[in-house]
Amino acid sequence: MSEWHRVCGTDEIDEEDVIQFNHGDKVYAVYNTEKGFFATDGICTHEHQELADGIVIGTVIECPLHQGRFEITDGCALSAPVCIDLKTYPVKVENNNVFIEL
Ligand code: FES
Repeated sequence: MSEWHRVCGTDEIDEEDVIQFNHGDKVYAVYNTEKGFFATDGICTHEHQELADGIVIGTVIECPLHQGRFEITDGCALSAPVCIDLKTYPVKVENNNVFIEL
């Protein structure tokens, strides 16, 4: 059964930025984009690279290792060398806090 987990305050992720959220043995990336807050798996699907070290450009995350890009809103792999989509997770904002459903 999925549950909501508090990630951080809304002011703890700068606009056009990403932070890492660890839960259990998994790593997630939580984004503050021009279209709102989103969450994906935190590890690139190409190699084992943490996406929170990447760059957010609009609603795109660029992996810092080989510059593969994903669409943040739906996890879609956009450019080589990535070809496997990222899993995405529901996010909500309540009382200036960001929550992820896992
Ligand atoms: S590890 Fe992300 S593009 Fe290669």
